[in-house]
Amino acid sequence: MNKPKVLITRKWPASVETKLKQLYDVSLNEDDLPLTSEELKSALQNYDAVCPSVCDSLPAEVLNASNKRCKILGNFGVGYNHIDIAAAKENGLVVTNTPGVLTQSTADIAMTLLLMSARRGAEGDRLVRAGKWHGWCPTHMLSSDVTGATLGLIGFGRIAIATARKAHHGFGMKIVFFNPSAPDPSVIEELQATRCDSVEDVMRRADYISLHCPGGPDTRHLIDDKMIRLMKPNAHLINTARGDVVDSKALIDALRDKRIAGAGLDVYEGEPNIDPEFLTLENATLLPHLGSATLSTRTAMGEKVLANLAAFFEGREPEDRVA
Ligand code: DGY
Repeated sequence: MNKPKVLITRKWPASVETKLKQLYDVSLNEDDLPLTSEELKSALQNYDAVCPSVCDSLPAEVLNASNKRCKILGNFGVGYNHIDIAAAKENGLVVTNTPGVLTQSTADIAMTLLLMSARRGAEGDRLVRAGKWHGWCPTHMLSSDVTGATLGLIGFGRIAIATARKAHHGFGMKIVFFNPSAPDPSVIEELQATRCDSVEDVMRRADYISLHCPGGPDTRHLIDDKMIRLMKPNAHLINTARGDVVDSKALIDALRDKRIAGAGLDVYEGEPNIDPEFLTLENATLLPHLGSATLSTRTAMGEKVLANLAAFFEGREPEDRVA
């Protein structure tokens, strides 16, 4: 029997690419650049499985392509807001993701951004590199405490809880959160966390607000000008979720006018394009979507995709099926 034809749309760590090649007739995107809509349509017509990532936009217009051969989208990543799930279902496509394995690395990046934003880390690095540091001074670059401050989480899934654990157990932070459904009571007890009734309540109470909700139409601009205006003047906004959860223009205005102390961002509306105004703001710490970017995490993500494809092609239910 012929091996299933599989396309991975971006380069993966070598060890998982090698395993994939042993099992399937694999095509790699040697350019390692995001595919265009036309290339994605053609992939759906020519492969049994396509393994996209966050950079591949798969709206209904692409998923409705005619003469599809593809039966499964094995997404390399936990977030799948770049795939129109309703259209995937209508087209009989199975969709899987990679939950769990990137929880700690993404929570580490949330904490990295929180600490950098709080302690003006990126700004200090720029100052030293520019030769503008003239020595220690009692009033130079004063910033905000992290230890004992209040961390507010919007969304309270795996990554939010991992971030809250690092913040609470490591830095003695108080935890408040908003989540539509009630989490496991043992987690609330462990973290002595307070569940707020609304996003607004978290915005008002927290010194650091970290976003952990899914992207997509339901959360687009959830953090808009009105929400940002609820933040304390010493508060920082941290986003490792999806760029479009925050209205960038509103955030830029608040940072420019110093209505809030800072923002730490790993994701952007329309990334990799970034509103150039962010680049002019000393109180914005900007990372290039590094949440899951450790070798072991990216390898584990590839292993998850492999396990999901294996289940599908062996006629079993993939563990991480989302459609
Ligand atoms: C994820 O897994 O959703 C990360 O943001 C990378 O795609």
